[in-house]
Amino acid sequence: MSESLRVGLAGLGTVGASVARALAAKADELTAQCGRPIELTAVCARNRDQDRGVDLSQAQWFDDPVALARSNQIDVFVELIGGEDGVALDGVATALEAGRHVVTANKALLAKHGVGLAGRAEKAGVILNFEAAVAGGIPIIKTMRESLSGNAVSRVYGIMNGTANYILTRMERDGISFADCLADAQRLGYAEADPTFDIEGHDTAHKLAILTSLAFGTQIAADDIYMEGISNIALGDIEAARELGYRIKLLGVAQRTPEGIEQRVHPTMVPLGSVIAQVEGVTNAVAVEADIVGTLLMSGPGAGGDATASAVIGDLADIAKSQPGRQQAPALGRPADRLQPYKRARMRAHEGGYFVRMTVHDRPGVFADIARHMADQGISLESIVQHGAAPHPVPMGPDNPYGEDEETPSPKTVILTTHETTERAVRDAIAQIVEDGHLISRPQVIRIERAG
Ligand SMILES: NC(=O)c1ccc[n+]([C@@H]2O[C@H](COP(=O)([O-])OP(=O)(O)OC[C@H]3O[C@@H](n4cnc5c(N)ncnc54)[C@H](OP(=O)(O)O)[C@@H]3O)[C@@H](O)[C@H]2O)c1
Repeated sequence: MSESLRVGLAGLGTVGASVARALAAKADELTAQCGRPIELTAVCARNRDQDRGVDLSQAQWFDDPVALARSNQIDVFVELIGGEDGVALDGVATALEAGRHVVTANKALLAKHGVGLAGRAEKAGVILNFEAAVAGGIPIIKTMRESLSGNAVSRVYGIMNGTANYILTRMERDGISFADCLADAQRLGYAEADPTFDIEGHDTAHKLAILTSLAFGTQIAADDIYMEGISNIALGDIEAARELGYRIKLLGVAQRTPEGIEQRVHPTMVPLGSVIAQVEGVTNAVAVEADIVGTLLMSGPGAGGDATASAVIGDLADIAKSQPGRQQAPALGRPADRLQPYKRARMRAHEGGYFVRMTVHDRPGVFADIARHMADQGISLESIVQHGAAPHPVPMGPDNPYGEDEETPSPKTVILTTHETTERAVRDAIAQIVEDGHLISRPQVIRIERAG
């Protein structure tokens, strides 16, 4: 039997404890598959006394992740602490410098430092694996890095945040507001106490930035992503979407265009009949469109201790099977110094269909003005409908001298969808409509995405 692969595990929280338990439970299976044991030799967390649901007495304890990273008692440093800088970065950088392989689930760290860390790993001749960093248990990193070699990717998109997808699913299924769904998600442990990161799109953006680099061979550009969250999605949008044959999902999309690469995270209407529209609750899904393979869609658990641990264990098994002394596959699919600079396509140049919901004063000519401004921008409408709202009674008082309730015209809702047009045309048309003074509140604009 070959020597064991010695693992140092930094972080024993949701994911780390699951990894420790899976390594113990699957020791024989992994040894059989890898040809050598994967042995948890050292661990690190803040609280030494906490029960992690697994016997860690045989593993050396470290209080300091960086000391663990440089320990010569380990071959692989597994970073499951989190955070884009701090001890996570120090630990990973130290491990690579010391010639240790690294496995991490930390998308925030990779979105910010991925290219630099990939370069360091190549220089040291070690492996940097991060399957768990994007879409949890779905093996999308390995698929894009290794299995799609030779393919020219045109678009990669997906549902990559379970919290946001859970909220949108509940809003549609149970007809309850965003705020109530969020409160439920927090109660059930699907959403953090501060949910901003998940619902405003930052988490999806981190994952998308990593996928964009793998898809297009470009440097990671996490700060160059157009981002809109789901917090202003109303039940009315969800209902209107369904009537029009769509479902709203928070998508991360990276797409090659003649202008450059679009990276965008925003609520998106996808056709009800598409596979991605069926992805419900905390499940994730990622689709890749490429010239040789066509369209590929993977869906599965995007988070949670065990699903994420599955990806970490897969990364460890790959390291255990790798040949020492041989050149390792580059972390981002090609050598870090051959990654191209990222060229951003302007959002105004984005082409697609649009859904626009406007609350307007009920005056003659509003409908016609809206249609005219759209036509002036060369926008072809797929549908336009006007919904009346229940009249608001005017309370008795000086404005109502008759002493009885009188009814006044209520606001109207105009909902339209467009055929393929540009973001610039839609924004310019809406600016004109706003200028006319017809709108009562900010219009809702949701992009429509072609999806398989
Ligand atoms: N949770 C998921 O479903 C999921 C899915 C995909 C990716 N990830 C990623 O996986 C990573 C870990 O996530 P998690 O949910 O497992 O986090 P977590 O439950 O908060 O666990 C973090 C662990 O790091 C330890 N830690 C924190 N600061 C430390 C320090 N200064 N020194 C030593 N140990 C320290 C904590 O120690 P104590 O336990 O002693 O406090 C804890 O064990 C993150 O990068 C996250 O983005 C998570």
